[in-house]
Amino acid sequence: MGMNALYFNNHGDSSVLKYGELPIPDVKEGYCLIRVDACALNRLDLWVLQGWPNLGLNFPHIGGSDIAGTVVSGNTKWSEGEKVVIDPGINTKRDKFTDRGEDSLSPGYRVIGEHIPGGFAEYVTVPIENLRKAPLGFTSEESASSLLVGLTAYRMLVHRANLKAGERVLIIGSGGGVNSVAIQLAKYLGGTVHVVCGGVKKSRNAMKLGARYTVDYTAELDWERHLKIQNEGDGYDVIIDNVGAKTWSKSLKLASQGGRIITVGNTTGPIAETDIRYIFVKQLSILGSTMGSHDDFDKVLELLSKKAIKPIIDSIIPLAEGKSAYERMNTGTHFGKIVIKP
Ligand SMILES: NC(=O)c1ccc[n+]([C@@H]2O[C@H](COP(=O)([O-])OP(=O)(O)OC[C@H]3O[C@@H](n4cnc5c(N)ncnc54)[C@H](OP(=O)(O)O)[C@@H]3O)[C@@H](O)[C@H]2O)c1
Repeated sequence: MGMNALYFNNHGDSSVLKYGELPIPDVKEGYCLIRVDACALNRLDLWVLQGWPNLGLNFPHIGGSDIAGTVVSGNTKWSEGEKVVIDPGINTKRDKFTDRGEDSLSPGYRVIGEHIPGGFAEYVTVPIENLRKAPLGFTSEESASSLLVGLTAYRMLVHRANLKAGERVLIIGSGGGVNSVAIQLAKYLGGTVHVVCGGVKKSRNAMKLGARYTVDYTAELDWERHLKIQNEGDGYDVIIDNVGAKTWSKSLKLASQGGRIITVGNTTGPIAETDIRYIFVKQLSILGSTMGSHDDFDKVLELLSKKAIKPIIDSIIPLAEGKSAYERMNTGTHFGKIVIKP
């Protein structure tokens, strides 16, 4: 039996993506077959398509980490037809990190759509332990939109930044999946949130999500000075910078005495200049974060259920036209999640 899928046989840009029929995957012990109802795109999918040394994919590879779907092969825990969402992070071994609830620190941590085939297809197999009931009151496109980025934002702000009510937060960038959740979550945790946005429309969207103040980096080239004035010379307690090369040195300048700068990524490139003096003089903490644990994932679903965060959908694109989803993300014009629908 075959299924339609968006896949690639070699690394490259979106031109190497193919849409066509592949076999429905075999279901291994401990796994479950899911019919994909919707799967959101992440920047990760673009990195995986591009490839990096020692990634070692088995081709054909199918991307897609953010899966909302329907159980096909019932098992002891789930019945056929149940609506589920999938935690994209897989623990392949138990170690000191998983024992203390820091799954994504474990060298055995894997991501659906990165290390194993993902959800840009009609069917996918996933570990049974990664299945969760789909949150009630959301469409499958909405459910798919908050998973990987919700998990990432939760660990980043709660466990790593340890954000406290009343702290000043600067989020560099607005429309990315992580940032559009982070604005909401930082506000929910009691932070005063300022956002650096790529355009007037994105600034308006960021304000709607809870930003107190925004600056448009496309219009205000000296936005860092602008924010300093806005802050009366003082800096930010917490800065979220997953933009990387283009903004990192500004983040160091904008942090307050004792501030924390958190990175989960580097959309504009991984190599940036660090003036070390900012780190010791201001006694900054530079923190990294990646994905999160199954418990963190459950917290994200709770936050969704109580409407503390809401899914932000940029666009919904049919699987057959999935290549255009990758292309749209590459333009950087999106605000929120680009969802692919079989
Ligand atoms: N480690 C992890 O677990 C993890 C998880 C998820 C994502 N990531 C990484 O985090 C990064 C963000 O991913 P994403 O999926 O949220 O989507 P994305 O589409 O890569 O987000 C791009 C973000 O960068 C901002 N941006 C781009 N150029 C900018 C500039 N010159 N100045 C200021 N902001 C700029 C955009 O802001 P505007 O929309 O305002 O232009 C947008 O918020 C990626 O590098 C991804 O690989 C890591």
